[in-house]
Amino acid sequence: MQGKSVNILGIETSCDETAAAVVADGRIVGSSVIASQTKLHEKYGGVVPEIASRAHIEKIYPVIAEAMEQAKVGKDDIDAIAVANQPGLTIALVVGVTAAKTLSFAWDKPLIAINHLHAHLQSAMLTEENLQLPAVALIVSGGHTCLYNCESPLELELLGSTIDDAAGEAFDKVANILRLPYPGGPSIEKAAKNGDPKAIDFPRSMLGRDSLDFSFSGIKTAVLYYCCGQDMKGENKVDSMSKEEIADIAASFQAAVIDVLVRKTQRAAERIGAKTILLGGGVAANNELRTTLQQMCNSAEPPKKLLIAPKQYCTDNAVMVASLAYHKFEAKLFADLTLEPKATG
Ligand code: KG4
Ligand code: ZN
Repeated sequence: MQGKSVNILGIETSCDETAAAVVADGRIVGSSVIASQTKLHEKYGGVVPEIASRAHIEKIYPVIAEAMEQAKVGKDDIDAIAVANQPGLTIALVVGVTAAKTLSFAWDKPLIAINHLHAHLQSAMLTEENLQLPAVALIVSGGHTCLYNCESPLELELLGSTIDDAAGEAFDKVANILRLPYPGGPSIEKAAKNGDPKAIDFPRSMLGRDSLDFSFSGIKTAVLYYCCGQDMKGENKVDSMSKEEIADIAASFQAAVIDVLVRKTQRAAERIGAKTILLGGGVAANNELRTTLQQMCNSAEPPKKLLIAPKQYCTDNAVMVASLAYHKFEAKLFADLTLEPKATG
């Protein structure tokens, strides 16, 4: 990975993955190293910020060293250091931001600040050489659910977002109710395979005819009422339910969430006359969502091209950070050493 290519070291610590990657020219992946904290948070049924931060501190330099080694690059081969500095858990982000600033200072390389959500979107474009614009991007993760009008990798207009829970958060909370292991998304998907998606008619919140916003707290509550009774006085019946009944709840919940995500994406695509749909974020790993969105794109008039992030780059990783940073590098959009982490973004 030498010569004229632009090699960027990407760093990601926004939630519960410590990740580093080296990417050349925004699309040639030299390495991608991810230290997942799933085991540490599993018993709490969600991410504990203090534990996440400490684990990032422990892992950040070994992960960066491993990424450099796997890509067979030394500091002289690196053209810039990129880091996700927003949005996320501030005490998690600060670890990556501090590491990136330290390397930028010590190695005298430009520093590039990356929005984690915009980076998720970049994962969907990773292998595409000829992006047809305008494009609508659906980013579905544990913390966010957003629709963007994508005019270029660096020009994103937010069209809508969740007004309460994110889609991934709903998967995680419903998995908790169903006593399925953390993280909830993959567990629900696995359980749903054996269930009937039409068994229970869970609500689909569309928030009015024109809205491009999302709301997933209603469906989460509907699952809770279904399992514990409307007055919440009953025991959680899940303990005495058969595997088939749990599978039906998981499949019906998954179908309702996907239905809303796909219909809103279609609505956004019609509004801006999109030629392409981009899908990224942790929930984009869900096969049902991938297939249903593909069907929508095929049956649209005219049909739309669907670009989905490769599975290994749906959940948090640093390839997406280094890849988006390439566009900022070319545009000379650099940060300085006062860069701070930001919870929102
Ligand atoms: O993008 P991500 O790794 O982290 C955030 O930026 O939040 O997304 C994590 C989320 C979790 O809520 C997880 O349950 C969900 O993505 N997820 C899935 C699947 N794999 C991960 N949701 C549904 N189906 C999946 N297969
Ligand atoms: Zn993410």
